[in-house]
Amino acid sequence: MAQLWGGRFTGKTDELVYEFNASVSFDKRFFGQDIEGSIAHAVMLEKQGILTKKEKDDIVKGLTGIREDVEKGLLQITGEYEDIHSFVEASLIERIGEAGKKLHTGRSRNDQVALDMRLYTRQEVLCVDGLIKELLQTLLQIMTENTETYMPGFTHLQKAQPVTLAHHVGAYFEMFKRDRLRLKDIYGRMNYCPLGAGALAGTTYPLDRNYTASMLGFEGPTLNSMDSVSDRDYVIEFLSALSTIMMHLSRFCEEIIIWNSNEYRFVEIDDSYATGSSIMPQKKNPDIAELIRGKTGRVYGALMSILTTMKGIPLAYNKDMQEDKELTFDAIDTVKGSLALFDGMMKTIKFNRSMMEKSAVKGFTNATDAADYLVGKGVPFRDAHGIIGRLVLYCIDKECSIDDLSIEELKSISPAFEEDIYEKISLKTCVEKRLTLGAPGAAAMREVIRIEKEYLDNN
Ligand code: ARG
Repeated sequence: MAQLWGGRFTGKTDELVYEFNASVSFDKRFFGQDIEGSIAHAVMLEKQGILTKKEKDDIVKGLTGIREDVEKGLLQITGEYEDIHSFVEASLIERIGEAGKKLHTGRSRNDQVALDMRLYTRQEVLCVDGLIKELLQTLLQIMTENTETYMPGFTHLQKAQPVTLAHHVGAYFEMFKRDRLRLKDIYGRMNYCPLGAGALAGTTYPLDRNYTASMLGFEGPTLNSMDSVSDRDYVIEFLSALSTIMMHLSRFCEEIIIWNSNEYRFVEIDDSYATGSSIMPQKKNPDIAELIRGKTGRVYGALMSILTTMKGIPLAYNKDMQEDKELTFDAIDTVKGSLALFDGMMKTIKFNRSMMEKSAVKGFTNATDAADYLVGKGVPFRDAHGIIGRLVLYCIDKECSIDDLSIEELKSISPAFEEDIYEKISLKTCVEKRLTLGAPGAAAMREVIRIEKEYLDNN
């Protein structure tokens, strides 16, 4: 048991208490951040005349050496230490002696852990952002190749109007693009440095908080020392953004699962991203998509958990806050894994274009356009709607599409039909006529692709 606080105690910590309280098994993850923050603190202490140059040099050298030895595996972070901060400080004192004991001057583990968590989270925000960017590039590629791949668009999971694969995938492009904007926004808000807040009430040492903040790449220091040590809003915001990312991934996965089903066969998942059944030899299952859909719950769980943990905590630091770590780490790992796998799945998936097109032709997706056609021939829209409704019933009975009917059959339902109906309600016309910005028509879609490409080039 290596603890930083033995002086006031005469009795020994109960072993179960020690284990329950300790965090090194998980906070060792931000070992690098703890060293980075400690170096910045030591450099600032020397600038302020609180440490001598020699003491600062010894500390920086000691900390750098510890980092190297841990990275090389020469030094182990073990359960013998209560937390990562104890490990670093104890190792430093062991290495450089007296000067090591001065590192913690004007600092508390409360502002130290607040700093480490922020540095770690900040870096992960960028990492997740990079993975989404990669996915957006993949999606844009699919969009570029499929501006004329016709498929049914659905509402209520019923065929509604024809769209294109580019247009459908483009909807997810927008979702993931908003996710990136959210991350950018969160990054800006979290980018303030809590170091120097001390335990809760600042410190009597003349620290230069602006200096450490800028050394660590922050916008500036935080402005209230009690808030600095007890703020976990940035964790909550990040988990909320991660939850939204998972929700988007999960919706897309759900569609891939449906499209991959025997009934649809719109896509074929590559062998490298599918799995088989131990008993049914014919099976090729979309396990990765299902797992991503399933893991969404676990990320939501992390968000609910931290919201609940934080809701009853009086100012300032309380140990409850240690609970922010494991769940956040797990959520970050889950989202990063899901994004990478989803991207891989989408890079290798095959789209069955003829199945999509056949499906779009079959489901009366041109019924709206047929009604509009009649309107064009002078029939009031409400009447046109009724006529096409009856036409659809007739077709269901005959098991055919509107376009399969002869002109005589059409005319028997409404004399307004003429020979040009076939061209006017063809799948191609139905899509290509929709040219408002954001609509599926190829020309409109190409303009969106141009805008999105420019966005990716600049962001
Ligand atoms: N392991 C602690 C945490 O994660 C570090 C801060 C400890 N501070 C304290 N006063 N016990 O929150």
